[in-house]
Amino acid sequence: MRLFVTKYPDYHIVNLDALTYAGNLENLRDIDQLPNYTFCKADILDAAALDKIFSDHQPDAIIHLAAESHVDRSILSPLDFVYTNVIGTVNLLNAAKKLWNGNYEGKRFHHVSTDEVFGALGNTGLFTETTSYDPHSPYSASKASSDHFVRAYHDTYGLPVTITNCSNNYGPNHFPEKLIPLFINNIINRKPLPVYGDGLYTRDWLYVIDHAVAIDTVLHQGKTGATYAVGGFNEWTNIDLVKLLCRLMDEKLGRTAGESEQLITYVKDRPGHDRRYAIDATKINTELGWKPSVTFEEGLSITIDWYLQNTDWLKNVTSGAYMDYYKKVYG
Ligand code: DAU
Repeated sequence: MRLFVTKYPDYHIVNLDALTYAGNLENLRDIDQLPNYTFCKADILDAAALDKIFSDHQPDAIIHLAAESHVDRSILSPLDFVYTNVIGTVNLLNAAKKLWNGNYEGKRFHHVSTDEVFGALGNTGLFTETTSYDPHSPYSASKASSDHFVRAYHDTYGLPVTITNCSNNYGPNHFPEKLIPLFINNIINRKPLPVYGDGLYTRDWLYVIDHAVAIDTVLHQGKTGATYAVGGFNEWTNIDLVKLLCRLMDEKLGRTAGESEQLITYVKDRPGHDRRYAIDATKINTELGWKPSVTFEEGLSITIDWYLQNTDWLKNVTSGAYMDYYKKVYG
């Protein structure tokens, strides 16, 4: 959002968000007074609200990032994921189809998806745009379904769509239920760091701004109907990543070397846990010139600094309902 609002003063950007548990208007305080930005509170499950907002603002482009996105929550409440990720996506597709009414010149519906739709890799190999779908969690199954609907609206109605399937993101303002922000918060508070299973699961990490730049690139230069796999060329086993995080945090917090590592606690594995994800981002690199701009150590350092400078933000988002969720997942 911030990238688009600041980079394109001539575009009018409408931010449509239901403001559920992870949504937070505080995250956009620095841009919310700009003349090219409007916020609309709406749920993508409310088709009438979408029609009204689309008719009021007449968007030429839609970037669909609205989703239930946390795997552990999908294991607790799969239906929430079906509603928002599947039905919500179809509602958005319908609203775009109705608004544009077959006049697709200069229009674009960009769907932001995940590499989790491809399932799990073994020790070798990479996901590409042509990898078969093989989702294992209710979350990835719901995202896979949404991708199929987006392609179906392109093939059936000619809707001008593009899709990106991205690897794990990290960065400032990330809700502390995902691995990196959760562990930063726990290290700050000297709480256990719950590593699932043997800790040898592998993820490919990408700094959030690099993901935003990839979306911008595909929106403006991507081929209609095309999919682009986006990743950081940056694979880490969870345990190595957690040890790096502990070392950087000890340095920044002025703690004794090795102190935070003692918080590492191996816990029961996540059911259906995918062993390894890794993206081959050659297509977006060679066709559109995109590549990650931030190294992992740089991105992680910026991210940790942001959380250390925003402890009030962390306290706010980890009170109340967050504690109930934490108890349910971690006991
Ligand atoms: O790959 C892209 C996906 O990355 C996105 O589509 C998802 O929305 C996003 O949540 C993320 O999914 P993951 O399941 O990979 O992310 P998460 O941060 O939940 O977990 C990363 C790894 O760390 C995974 O192997 C599980 C492990 N983990 C996670 C948590 C929260 C732990 O060992 N302990 C934990 O407490």
